[in-house]
Parts: sequence; structure tokens; C-alpha cells
Amino acid sequence: MTWRMDVTSTGRPSVILGGSGSLDALEERAAGAVDAGSRLYVLTDLNVRAAWGDQVLALLAPAELRDAVLVLPPGETTKSVASAAACWEWLAVRGARRDDIVVALGGGVIGDLAGFVASTHLRGMGLWQLPTSLLAQVDSSVGGKTAVNLGAGKNLVGSFYQPDLVVPDPRFLATLADNEYINGLGEVAKYALLDDGGLLDLLESGMAPIHAREPAFMERVIERCISYKATVVEQDERDNGVRATLNLGHTTAHALEVSLGYGTIGHGTAVALGLLVALAVSEAVVGLPTPVRKRTESLLEALGLPTRAVLPPAEELLGAASRDKKVRAGSSGFVCLRDLGRPVWNVDVPRDVFSQALEVIRL
Ligand SMILES: NC(=O)c1ccc[n+]([C@@H]2O[C@H](COP(=O)([O-])OP(=O)(O)OC[C@H]3O[C@@H](n4cnc5c(N)ncnc54)[C@H](O)[C@@H]3O)[C@@H](O)[C@H]2O)c1
Repeated sequence: MTWRMDVTSTGRPSVILGGSGSLDALEERAAGAVDAGSRLYVLTDLNVRAAWGDQVLALLAPAELRDAVLVLPPGETTKSVASAAACWEWLAVRGARRDDIVVALGGGVIGDLAGFVASTHLRGMGLWQLPTSLLAQVDSSVGGKTAVNLGAGKNLVGSFYQPDLVVPDPRFLATLADNEYINGLGEVAKYALLDDGGLLDLLESGMAPIHAREPAFMERVIERCISYKATVVEQDERDNGVRATLNLGHTTAHALEVSLGYGTIGHGTAVALGLLVALAVSEAVVGLPTPVRKRTESLLEALGLPTRAVLPPAEELLGAASRDKKVRAGSSGFVCLRDLGRPVWNVDVPRDVFSQALEVIRL
């Protein structure tokens, strides 16, 4: 069943059309855009072009897509200043105008890059997000953060720019590689802890349809995740307060990715381990009841995510965690949970508490 959510932030309003089959609404949207005088420019990557390009481009056909599809190499290295420059040139050569629309067809890499390009080209064009990975559907396509990476670090250049339209159709998930699906499930687990509306119960009751990627079940999971994110973004679009709760588990996850090396550990794996550390810290610092961590461990295991890993020394991870760019100067910036659905942020975490918490995931 399809659903609609409207996100109203200080930036532009976003319409989110979700659910299995929501993609079909593109035909009418594209026709409407053409009637309004806009042209569509599609940015995608090779994998998504191969799996979904023909179907999606056929839906967008009223928008006369001749020569208006740019296919980029897949992978994180595509989220670069060089790719953004190539997109700007490509748009300029085709005479793109401000009321034309950049369509991001892909995972978080294409979404972040296309969002950045749309927000900067001609000082801002239209933007549609068609997220095709689970991570992009539950997280990166909503909320308006765009970015490219620099040699000095990930996501260092970007903007806040809300998409006009987001279409997270769970049918896209059928062709996603297993490890990429698992990455997305790490973020889903995060939302299950943040959400007080029963997402955790829903996941626990639905392991078979989750592993089968059943669109009719996954559309409910995606809706709950987006609903939490949208509520937070409406309150704090610019990430000065409650939006920090979306970083639950991520301080440790980034530290693991940095010390073990990006690509050595999957992002979903890092997030899963980071969640367990955040919960152990929460027990020590804000009185989270211990059963929540036990329940989370069972959830992660059932989702196919790890709960233990061979770790570098705690000192190394502490160093990497304190260099995390999301940790603001003068504060540890750590996100904790008082209970399910009750996050707190900007929590000061003593070094020894963090070290001890790391032991819960050490193999
Ligand atoms: N903007 C935000 O708020 C936000 C939030 C979280 C993460 N991110 C960013 O998202 C990026 C990661 O996104 P991702 O995990 O989607 O990675 P990704 O975009 O690289 O996609 C993962 C892989 O799956 C392929 N793929 C995607 N959809 C597919 C489909 N339906 N069928 C077959 N293959 C498909 C891609 O080609 C790629 O090889 C990172 O750069 C991260 O920084 C942004």
C-alpha cells in the first residue's frame, strides 16, 4: 500500500511517496513537471542503471530524457568534488535552468552527490530523490543533508537542501547486494531504538519477510524509520539539537571504520557494534535498563548483524572517537538512550566508561 508524508522544515517542503508501487506515481509527477516547463536530469550509477534504469526512465519518459541521463561509476569515490564538477559541466552544456529538476536515482552516494549538485548549480535547482538502497530509503534520502568527500575526510563539503520529492519504493531492494542490504539494516536497528512507536516489535515479528525483502512488509519498516527522521528534521533541520539523536551508535561506528580502515568493516556492521557500545555507555551514565541491550543483541543477531568483533586497543578507538567531526568542541557529543524511544544527546562520557563499554563487543 502506498503512503504519503509531508515534511515541512525551514527549507523547502518535501513530499515523500512511499510504499510498494509508489514508483508508479512518477509517471504523473514527470508529466506535471513537463507541463510546468521543467526538464528532468537524471544522475545514477552503473549498477542502478543496469538494474532499474529502463523501468524508471520509461516512467519519466514524458519528460523527454533524451541525452539527460548521466551514469557515474558506483562507489564512495564518486562522491567527490571532481564528480560534482563533472555534473555541473554536464548540466551547463545541456542548458539546464533553475526550474529544471535533478533526479537522483541510486543509493546514498548518488543521493548525496546529486543533492549537492542540485543545491549549488545555478544556486539551486529542483531535486527528486529516488533512493534505491535500504540505507538511502530509511535514512539518507530524507532530511536534506547533501555532501561530497574531500581527501581530508568524508562529507566535509555540502549543504542543507530539502528534496521536493522522495520516492522510497521497497521494490528497488530486490536487486540490492546482500552486504548492502545488511548495511541498511544497521540503520533500521538504530531507528528501532530511537522510535517509541513499535518499530522494534515490528522487526522482531517480521524476520522472515525482512530477510525475504518482502515489499509489503518493508514498506512499513521504511515508513517508521522515515517518520522518526522527518519529525526530528522538522524540529532541527540544521543539526543544532535533537537531530544529533540520529548519530546513536555512530561515534563508535566511525571510530571503528577509521581504525580498521573504511571498506574493511561494513557500515552496517560498524553501526550495529556502535549501538551496543552506546547502550552499554547508557547503562553506566543515564541508567538505561540492562534488558534493552540484551534485546538489541538478539535483534541484531536475528537481522544477521554482528554483536562482537576483534577490536584495536581501546586507546586507539578513543582517539578516533574524539576526532569524530560530529563531536563538537568542548563536549563529548555522545548520544545515549534513557530507555527505548528516549534518546539524550551531548552526553559527557568519561574515558573509562567508554573503554569498559567497548569490552561488550570485543571478541
Ligand atoms: N545525507 C544523509 O543524511 C546521509 C545519511 C547516511 C548516509 N549517507 C551517505 O550515504 C552513502 C552510503 O549510501 P549507500 O549505502 O546507499 O551506498 P551506495 O550509494 O554506494 O550504494 C551501495 C551499492 O549498492 C548499489 N545499489 C544501490 N541500489 C541498488 C539496487 N536497488 N540494486 C542494485 N544495486 C544497487 C550501488 O550501485 C552501490 O554499489 C555514504 O556516502 C554516506 O555518507 C548520507
